[in-house]
Amino acid sequence: MKIAVAKGDGIGPEIMDATLSIFAANKVPLEYEFVDMGKWVFDKGFSNGMTPEAKLAIENLGLLFKGPMETPKGKGVKSINVTARKTWNTFANKRVFQTLHGVDTVFSKAGIPIDITVVRENIEDTYGGIEHMLTHDVALSRRFITRPGSEQVIRYAFEMARLKKARRVSCGHKSNIMKITDGLFLECFYEVAKSYPDLKADDIIVDDLCMKLVTQPDAFDVVVLTNLQGDIVSDLCAGLVGGLGFAPSANIGDHISIFEAVHGTAPDIAGKNIANPTALILSGISMLLHVGLTENAGIIENALLYTLESGVHTGDFGDKSTPAVNTPEFANAIISNLGKKPEFNAKPVVPNKPGTPVPFKLQQNAMMVSKETGNENIVGVDLFIESDEQPQSIAKKCERHAGVKFKLVNISNRGTQVWPTGSVYTNLVNLYNVRFESLDDEPLTQQDVLGLYVSLSGNFKICSSELLNMWGDKKAYSLAQGQ
Ligand code: NAI
Repeated sequence: MKIAVAKGDGIGPEIMDATLSIFAANKVPLEYEFVDMGKWVFDKGFSNGMTPEAKLAIENLGLLFKGPMETPKGKGVKSINVTARKTWNTFANKRVFQTLHGVDTVFSKAGIPIDITVVRENIEDTYGGIEHMLTHDVALSRRFITRPGSEQVIRYAFEMARLKKARRVSCGHKSNIMKITDGLFLECFYEVAKSYPDLKADDIIVDDLCMKLVTQPDAFDVVVLTNLQGDIVSDLCAGLVGGLGFAPSANIGDHISIFEAVHGTAPDIAGKNIANPTALILSGISMLLHVGLTENAGIIENALLYTLESGVHTGDFGDKSTPAVNTPEFANAIISNLGKKPEFNAKPVVPNKPGTPVPFKLQQNAMMVSKETGNENIVGVDLFIESDEQPQSIAKKCERHAGVKFKLVNISNRGTQVWPTGSVYTNLVNLYNVRFESLDDEPLTQQDVLGLYVSLSGNFKICSSELLNMWGDKKAYSLAQGQ
């Protein structure tokens, strides 16, 4: 079995060499094709951070084991890590956080065991990076949460939870504020949960989740979240088990999967050979399990746990009264412990079944299938206009353009209603949302909306617009604060 390997930047080559030396010592039956990705590839002029040969190799092999990579700052290029995840539709980011004996934390000292798996949606949300300056003062980021994208990652979370015999799957969200986007994610969660009656499914608002993860981390099992919230919550969980040095990550797709550590290139310690390779080793173990190399995975994880228990540590953790080892020495300690069993959390060593179907290889979702009811009407439009005038004067001008089809119902600024009612205490910026709705409640056409657009553009610069749709009797848009 052959996989693609990209060593990465900064500490990447150091921790990848350490990990592969352990794989070699355990005779892991994998061949490696080393591919060119990362900062130096950007520097050579490849704007996506990988050579065409690297892209082809990864697409042919279906598995990428990667070190952390740096995206050049200030050059307008997109993150290589996010590009890789999105290009190959690795829609689920699985991050496992477990108590590791020998890695002291406040929880391990208090005897509170942690075993949390965060599944983060990996493609959508603000990570689409679809951003515009609407005026010189106002930036807009579009946050896409889709039904098929949410269902896909949530189904993965439930499948994985069932396989690991989890007790509970929790959905973290902020649907009390983002009723439409996070509301859709939550709706999908409970829809998918119906197919898994054997698993307890519940939801929790993300800020409450953060508090409870810190006060009672042993209460959680599998947690599924949207992209940005999942990113933040998973770093919080990394802190619970000893820091980023212990946080592995698997980016799972239908066809291509990427295994990497959560941490970055650690430029402050790069080149010194003192980095902690544990997170990448754990990511590698997760990759071995993914391809059915269960025996190698079990032996290597047991050796790692045994090494940690015995107090061997790199400089970033462990008993400071004992000298730290460097990266290759840490790897050699693990190699010398291959075949030994740790006292705590010893892993099963199950014979390899290479060539078995890759676990979690879901059927390609029919992403374009929509649950539309046919009962859909345009009932208005939000036009985002640039203006430094006061709401009353904007309203007067807008009403002149409403014509026979529209009525001006509301003006808001940064989501807060400022007309027809508002507060003098609401601070204004130079972008207003003027909301027009159908005058006689009759459905509107796109041509009606374009007519209004053209008319209003005589008075204002229209920076952006959104149709107001009704799905049956359900509003497919949010109300302004105070509306
Ligand atoms: P970072 O994770 O590289 O470093 C944060 C802190 O943790 C530093 O003090 C570092 O020394 C320490 N640290 C991280 N990994 C360690 C390890 N294995 N052993 C010991 N100490 C470790 O995060 P930062 O500084 O925000 O990002 C540095 C670069 O990495 C940036 O260019 C960023 O874009 C990139 N990055 C890449 C990622 C990836 O390839 N998946 C993920 C996160 C950041």
